[in-house]
Amino acid sequence: MSKLAFCGAVLVGAFGACRHQPATLPSGATDVGFPSSSATGTATYSGDRRPAHFPDAWPYKAGRAAVFGEHAMVASDAPLASQAGADIMRRGGNAVDAAVAVGFAMAVVFPEAGNIGGGGYMVIRMADGRTAALDYREIAPLAATRNMYLDANGNLTNKSVVGPLASGVPGAVAGLTAALAKYGTMSLRDVMAPAIRFAEEGFIVDSAQARSYRNAARLIAQFNGASVFLPHGTPLAVGTRLTQPDLARTLHRIAEQGAPGFYTGETAKLIADEMHRDGGIITESDLARYQPVWRETIKSTYRGYTLLTMPPSSSGGVVVTETLNILENAASMPAFGSVAYAHLLGSAYQRSFIDRNEKLADPAFASVPMQQLTDKAYARTLYATIGAGRATPTAPVAKTMREGTETTHYSVADVNGNAVATTTTLNALYGSGVYVRDGGFFLNDEMDDFAAAPGKPNMFGLVQGEANAVQPGKRMLSAMSPTIVLDRDGGLLLVVGSRGGPRIITSTSQVILNVLDQHMILSDAVSAPRIHHQALPDSLSYERDGLTSAVADSLRRMGYGVQAGGGIGLINAIMRVRGGYEGMSDPRSSGRPVGY
Ligand code: DON
Repeated sequence: MSKLAFCGAVLVGAFGACRHQPATLPSGATDVGFPSSSATGTATYSGDRRPAHFPDAWPYKAGRAAVFGEHAMVASDAPLASQAGADIMRRGGNAVDAAVAVGFAMAVVFPEAGNIGGGGYMVIRMADGRTAALDYREIAPLAATRNMYLDANGNLTNKSVVGPLASGVPGAVAGLTAALAKYGTMSLRDVMAPAIRFAEEGFIVDSAQARSYRNAARLIAQFNGASVFLPHGTPLAVGTRLTQPDLARTLHRIAEQGAPGFYTGETAKLIADEMHRDGGIITESDLARYQPVWRETIKSTYRGYTLLTMPPSSSGGVVVTETLNILENAASMPAFGSVAYAHLLGSAYQRSFIDRNEKLADPAFASVPMQQLTDKAYARTLYATIGAGRATPTAPVAKTMREGTETTHYSVADVNGNAVATTTTLNALYGSGVYVRDGGFFLNDEMDDFAAAPGKPNMFGLVQGEANAVQPGKRMLSAMSPTIVLDRDGGLLLVVGSRGGPRIITSTSQVILNVLDQHMILSDAVSAPRIHHQALPDSLSYERDGLTSAVADSLRRMGYGVQAGGGIGLINAIMRVRGGYEGMSDPRSSGRPVGY
């Protein structure tokens, strides 16, 4: 479709007029104004966007320009992968072609979380109105057992976190190829070409990559990846060219054969051999039977906007939806950063996380009360339990969870208004640490997202119920929350998602609230300080310097256990603006959007 059609479908009339005729917005469309980028890097506030105000000590200032692209945009944690996706769209590919290209490229240039040895979730919204949610989460191997992570005394071991037993059967290659086959327009070979080039010809290690290899050196050193990332025992330094010939050969097999190039034949044998050598249980038949699942997107509304988000086996979309349904009962959201704001938002998260931890699991194995948890009347009853001016203690019977801050999210939008939100992970950075020799990739430690010992905390403090216990062939519960927001006129508005375990849910939803309620421009919405509440531990955490001390003190007096801490989530988002898109990678990360 032409530029003209994009503009007609999504925004106003002829494309050339988009930036110059603001009066022609269709009724109901959200007017997010002109692009905020300028030669000086300073944002402009037009349309219905309003300047944001952050606490003085907050390190990320409001009013910075986002990246602008007239036609298309990719926002990811790896600049090379963003560029690869943008190039695919420049050559005529659609957002799905680009998302698949980004996914494979991330597996090469962002090995801490980009992957072919892990899994993820993709939410797609085509400009013609079709929507889809693709679940390519890992599954437990057939030989998995409920108590496989307990020692003889019933105590948890660390085998769900490090080493070959920690891995679920990877879903990434099945997912990416399925998405391309159903919604893409280009050949697998073409969309994988950038990834293969990065693996064969190499790329220059930047400071973020070098830091990542250094930080993970102890884990990587235990397995075969050491020869690639820690040559002679030393992490690759800035400026080194990293080539990955084994990975290139694996990618070639996938490009030529499709998913069978990973799930059968040589690659499957390499994985099974790696497992067999060290006591892992994934077999060639586990790999051969892996299938991604196309699911119905959760389609919810918030103050007239439409959210398209991910259903279980991720908890992400349910919790985002339930939280926003609770908040919708307030006539309007209190001012950003105020005591009332933190109280209302924290209380809403607390209530939806209680449901998350007790009721959600793989729907193929557990009965999940989707209707109840996404119901507005149910949310009204939860809203009614939020007391004015006081915190509600989380009942000790409610389950608790605490996770790390890994994973990666990327957002893509094309010239026709097609959009893709994808979150993918190995779980911990570099997953289980196990690196498939001669295959050239890390395997996940996603088995730790199961309740390894129902009712007891796992290695990350995660305590969940029987519904999420280990069972063969089952998907472990996730928090990943890829989400697409449509404006009141049904046009594409926002593509968003995050990394960070349960903070994926809270960070993603706060960017949405910042755009919809606080009328922030995208860069402010992503840079703004965030809060987090997950029911148990029963505390309201906030990013250091993200609340004023007066606000934190007031919350303490209301009964909150208030804790300042590190970053909450890492966002990669795209917003439709007049005349194109803005892309924003979190200032907390090393990501960078690329648009054109
Ligand atoms: O699926 C999930 O929710 C987690 N596996 C995401 C990984 C993460 O961010 C936490 N890491 N330990």
